[in-house]
Amino acid sequence: MKIMVINGANLNFLGIREKNIYGKMDFKDVVEYIKDEANKIDVTADCRQSNIEGEIINFIQEAYLNNYDGIVINPGAYTHYSYAIRDAIKSVEMPVIEVHISNVHKREEFRHTSVTAAACSGQIVGLGIYGYVLALMAVKNIKEQ
Ligand code: DQA
Repeated sequence: MKIMVINGANLNFLGIREKNIYGKMDFKDVVEYIKDEANKIDVTADCRQSNIEGEIINFIQEAYLNNYDGIVINPGAYTHYSYAIRDAIKSVEMPVIEVHISNVHKREEFRHTSVTAAACSGQIVGLGIYGYVLALMAVKNIKEQ
């Protein structure tokens, strides 16, 4: 099973940005962790990252056109206002799980709204990078139902 894991704006700065919120692990190690955990459940995680909204949309469309089994996406701050990413997720008939490393509900008011979540199958919030693993398991579970 092949799942695309898409990280959006500023997530390449994990290990550099706000470590008290996002943890000390740098992005490269987070990607390794996701891939290793995916392998344990017989999933191939194709990890992508972009700070550019249109590239994130291209990744979503690519996952669909290349018959991926699903998508795990952390759009970063685009979560809170990108109707274009929401429309892209709505366009594809596949399980899409939204992940947030931090508990956005404990944070600033603007982070409480996700315009993308309603287009997704589900959302995992506030469990650190383990949330990506849970999201991969969730995609797998939906596909195997
Ligand atoms: C985030 C939460 C967003 O509000 C923020 O803009 C991010 C990261 C998270 O994973 O907790 O960049 O998506």
